[in-house]
Parts: sequence; C-alpha cells; structure tokens
Amino acid sequence: MRQATLHQLKVFEAVARHNSFTRAAEELFLTQPTVSMQVKQLSKAVGLPLFEQVGKRLYLTTAGKELFITCKDIFEKLSEFESTVSNLKGLKKGKLRLSVITTAKYLIPRLLGLFSQHYPGIDISMKVTNHEGISERLVNNEDDLYVMSQIPNDFDVSVVPFLENPLVVVAPRSHRLAQEKNIPLKTLADELFIMREPGSGTRQAVQKLFDNHGFSAKVKLDLGSNEAIKQAIAGGLGISVLSRHSLTSESMNSEIVVLDVEHFPIRQHWYVVYPAGKQLSIVAQTFFDYLMNEGKAIAEHNFLNNISLNQK
Ligand code: PGA
Repeated sequence: MRQATLHQLKVFEAVARHNSFTRAAEELFLTQPTVSMQVKQLSKAVGLPLFEQVGKRLYLTTAGKELFITCKDIFEKLSEFESTVSNLKGLKKGKLRLSVITTAKYLIPRLLGLFSQHYPGIDISMKVTNHEGISERLVNNEDDLYVMSQIPNDFDVSVVPFLENPLVVVAPRSHRLAQEKNIPLKTLADELFIMREPGSGTRQAVQKLFDNHGFSAKVKLDLGSNEAIKQAIAGGLGISVLSRHSLTSESMNSEIVVLDVEHFPIRQHWYVVYPAGKQLSIVAQTFFDYLMNEGKAIAEHNFLNNISLNQK
C-alpha cells in the first residue's frame, strides 16, 4: 500500500462512487484509459482486485469495499485538516456538503447566497433528494449537514428544529371548492389525487393523515417532483398535498390555490440533522450557526411574506 498515491485513491473513490469508469473520468476531467490505469496500479499496490465486472455491471470486491470505506475516512480527515489550517490562518475555507429534502430546495439555495458572500472561500455542494434518499445519505455519512422533516428513528442523530414546513391541499384556481371554508375531508372523496412517489416523506405524512381519518383517496398518478405536481394540478389532472414552501408567489397567484380542508395543514418541521457524536468540521459549524441565526430570520420573514402575498 505504500506505493499507492493519494491521486490513485481519489480516482478509485470516484469510480466506486459512480460505479463507472466513464463517469469517474468525466468528473475528474481525465481520460478513461488514465482512470483504468490508475485503478490497475492501485490494485497492484493492494495485491488484490478492487472491482469485478459481471456482464455490463461493475462491482466492488470485498477488498474494494474496504478500501472505499477507508478512502471516505481519509478524505474526510484531510478536509477537516484543510479547514483547521484555514482556521489557523484566520480564513474560513473548505468544502461544505449539504443534503436537503425536496421541500426545502425552495429555501436553502436562497440562504446560501448570503452565506457565500460572507464566506467566499467555502465551496458548497448540495444534494436535493426525497426522504428515503436523504435518510440513506445520512446513514452512509455522505454529507456534513442534512435538512429534513422526518427524523429516522433507527439511527442516532443530533436534531435541531429549523423552520415550520406545513403541508397543504392544492387545487387549480378554478376548482369548485376554491372559495369554501373548512371543507370536510370526506368532500374530497371524489377528487382525483396526485401523490408524490413512494419513498417521499410528504406522501407518508399524507397517507398517515388519511389512514387516521379512514379516508381513502382516489389516486390518479404518482409523480416524483413537487414541480411536476404543480404543473399537473394547473393542467387539471387533479389535486394534491404539497409543502407550502413549494408554492412560490408567482405560481400561486396565477394557476393554483390552497384549499381550506379540515385537518390541514399537516404541521411538519424541518430539522437540521447530523449523525450523533459527529464532530462537525469548522466549515459545517459555521454554516450551522449561520442557518440558526441569520438564515432562520431571513427564512421566517420570506415565508410570512409569501403567505400574505398568496392570500391577497
Ligand atoms: P419528500 O419531502 O416528500 O421529498 O420526501 C418531505 C419532507 O419535507 O420531509
């Protein structure tokens, strides 16, 4: 292993993460033969094959899997070291990795703008995914911080509440119930519903509420994105339940509307989460502090403004 270089480990890590030589080459701006060569040399230094090809698929061997875990540790330590050094130099520099639930993608990027102005030396990568995806990333320790609504109960985490995330019933503006108040849930029995995909936390929360009230919704279709659902509602395909944050003022004012249905909104919260006991990097801690102070204040202000615009 002493002959292995850091560069080879970087190349190997990218191939293992993407499960593909081609995609690793693209990410690293290298040619595919260079990537193959680096992995081959690394494999020689290890003394065992790191990948095996079965048909068209690439699999990590047992040695490959072990090395992949080791690589993650090494790169995490190196990035911690980088930020420690930057901190010693009085600079906040380094990489911030975030995972954000789909409902929070309307807000967090806005907050990143101001953060980036304060800390231009911090590079950010942000993954947007649903409940299932974000829980998986959390368990695999892939990011520094996670913004999500439903906390996994089978994994030990540190959790700090961030902002409310109410789920509301959304319909086309021309809907027959658009002007009604306190609509009984059973009135929606004949409506066609558009649901988020399995694996979505929104879907889970809606299903739980329906089950609790013995309501069975007619589900017309599943869609894997809040944006696609808004378009489908506007197109007259049906009604749905979405995070209020996904209803920006432009779309609300024109084509879609929130229905005032009993038991709604479903009161959810976003939390900032990370694995319990994980030592946050200086960069992650800086973002965390920003989020809980300026970030939260801006978000609350924008949210209230948006609601009052929507109600006009
Ligand atoms: P999701 O988000 O439906 O994309 O999983 C739900 C949430 O806000 O928890």
